[in-house]
Amino acid sequence: MVGYKFMGKAHSHAYRDLPFYFDCETEPVLQALAGRDEEGVKAAAEKMGWLSYETDWRRLIERDDIDLIDIVTPNNTHAEIAIAAAEAGKHILCEKPLALTNEQAQRMYNAVKKNNVIHMICYNYRFSPAMQFAKKLIEEGRLGKIYHMRATYLQDWIMDPKFPLVWRLTKEVTGSGALGDIAAHSIDLARYLVGEFDEVTGMMETFIKERPVAEVSGGLSAKSDSSVMKEVDVDDASAFLVRFENGAMGVFEASRFAGGNRNGNRFEINGSKGSIRWDMESMNNLEVYFADDEAGLQGYRNITCTEEQHPFADAYWPAGHIIGYEHTFINLMTELMKGLSEGYSPSPNFDDGIKNQEILAAIEKSVETRGWVKVEQMKLVENV
Ligand SMILES: NC(=O)c1ccc[n+]([C@@H]2O[C@H](COP(=O)([O-])OP(=O)(O)OC[C@H]3O[C@@H](n4cnc5c(N)ncnc54)[C@H](O)[C@@H]3O)[C@@H](O)[C@H]2O)c1
Repeated sequence: MVGYKFMGKAHSHAYRDLPFYFDCETEPVLQALAGRDEEGVKAAAEKMGWLSYETDWRRLIERDDIDLIDIVTPNNTHAEIAIAAAEAGKHILCEKPLALTNEQAQRMYNAVKKNNVIHMICYNYRFSPAMQFAKKLIEEGRLGKIYHMRATYLQDWIMDPKFPLVWRLTKEVTGSGALGDIAAHSIDLARYLVGEFDEVTGMMETFIKERPVAEVSGGLSAKSDSSVMKEVDVDDASAFLVRFENGAMGVFEASRFAGGNRNGNRFEINGSKGSIRWDMESMNNLEVYFADDEAGLQGYRNITCTEEQHPFADAYWPAGHIIGYEHTFINLMTELMKGLSEGYSPSPNFDDGIKNQEILAAIEKSVETRGWVKVEQMKLVENV
């Protein structure tokens, strides 16, 4: 694994816990962790249970005792690491978004296809049992024809103008701001549950134009006493409308300036026969409405998705004993282990990664051109 902070902790924990809950033919061995700072990577490897460490990710790729490279570094590093890993015949799990740009994502996609390695991208929210159950209800036609999806992904961790300029606020490291960091998750859930995007139109805003440079950062926290200010060149908030290929309408909003919302990943989907809604901060629950319920008793019901009928749930605890954020990663990695045993790339994989990236690019283009953009126009070359 390359990188060892926020996602490094989530992925390490998931690899370690996976065999505790699931019997997989392929089991993860935490062979080596890579980071640039020897003291830091050594301490992280010891704490998180890795057997060895390297101070250059290229060494991981050279090692014969490593089959899978897990990329949990900032977005500007994904392409170089993934392409080198694919060329060395290593399987890949990459954090989202796939890359900085559509063009980089295309090169990564071509590399995994050409070298025939297993690939996945870590859109983990799909793997909450409630989301898997929502997918099942939609596939069974229980919601009928889908008319609407309205999704918000709202955070507030950078509202303080003195909050430093971390990598997530610098275009050359992150690609885009709230759009690629959090709307990308809503886009993945939308593609998973509703279908492919036909066209989009969006708007973006950067409320705080410059910030002090960061001195220490990791995940969504940072410190700085610096008086040196630098420009914020990504969006603090983005909003966009979507026309789905199946005719459904989408309204999406992602912001890091929505005070009081820490990780408000929420949506509602309305169909001809029913509706669902979900809130990540109560991730075990799926609210469901069926139009054919008896008159007088109609309304949203709140299902706690911890029953044996709910995907992944029976690997954990008795009904009603809830699971959390970290279990979405365990569930995703269980699929990855299955893919490695059986020789296929489970979804979400780089096919999903590149489609997501094309949508991000289409939204950015629509903001630039102040109009509607067909996602199809963002396809760079025929995929191999
Ligand atoms: N799936 C999710 O829900 C989710 C949540 C958070 C972050 N992410 C994604 O995970 C990735 C990492 O984000 P994070 O929040 O863990 O970041 P972070 O800042 O907490 O950690 C990044 C790690 O990468 C290391 N690093 C940076 N540049 C490196 C390089 N050139 N070589 C080796 N190591 C390097 C840092 O030292 C650190 O260990 C990003 O792509 C982000 O978008 C996904």
